[in-house]
Amino acid sequence: MRFSELALETRSIRRFKQSVRLSREKILAFVDSARLAPNAANLQVLRFSVVTSEKNCATIFPALKWAGYLEEWAGPEEGERPAAYIVIHAPGEEKPYTRMDVGIAAAYIVLSAREAGCGSCIIMSFDCGIVAGEVNTPEDYRPLLVIALGVSGEEVILETALKDIRYWRDELGRHHVPKLRLFEIVTEQ
Ligand SMILES: Cc1cc2nc3c(=O)[nH]c(=O)nc-3n(C[C@H](O)[C@H](O)[C@H](O)COP(=O)(O)O)c2cc1C
Repeated sequence: MRFSELALETRSIRRFKQSVRLSREKILAFVDSARLAPNAANLQVLRFSVVTSEKNCATIFPALKWAGYLEEWAGPEEGERPAAYIVIHAPGEEKPYTRMDVGIAAAYIVLSAREAGCGSCIIMSFDCGIVAGEVNTPEDYRPLLVIALGVSGEEVILETALKDIRYWRDELGRHHVPKLRLFEIVTEQ
């Protein structure tokens, strides 16, 4: 897949085909992409937990907060929940570059997941205590991002943001994501 196509298709997915399980090897391949990502001073301080079993996925799920703009929606129902997670841990003592490294690693993960036919959603709003307790968080580290993964069970439509940048759902349940136009985000001298 060309990168331009991959970028178009890598959308945040919040409803999955939960019964389609993903192997640990498949998820580890996404972490392997993050392993190769640029990072400040090549210090490679981030650590990653992989969650694939139904039992462990079920314990992570209640910690996650989904789609803040969709106030009426409580998150994916049983049957449409993620089939795996990657948790990105950073050292507890944060440096100015820490969250940049985390963001770049997350981007590599979601792009490689999409290339492999998986949907994903980066989640920053979660109960850190629950997640840290459920996965093997290294000492002096804390989880900064959770990436939900699975085969997509929803249709996502990219559109031009005219008045509002908030994503929304139409009457057919399709998820719409408004994006600003190129000239609106580029400054020129
Ligand atoms: C740093 C970051 C944190 C995010 N946190 C959440 C979150 O807590 N819950 C959620 O449902 N989506 C979360 N998202 C997904 C965004 O809502 C999503 O990227 C945005 O709506 C644009 O949609 P798109 O990814 O399809 O372009 C997060 C994305 C990023 C990059």
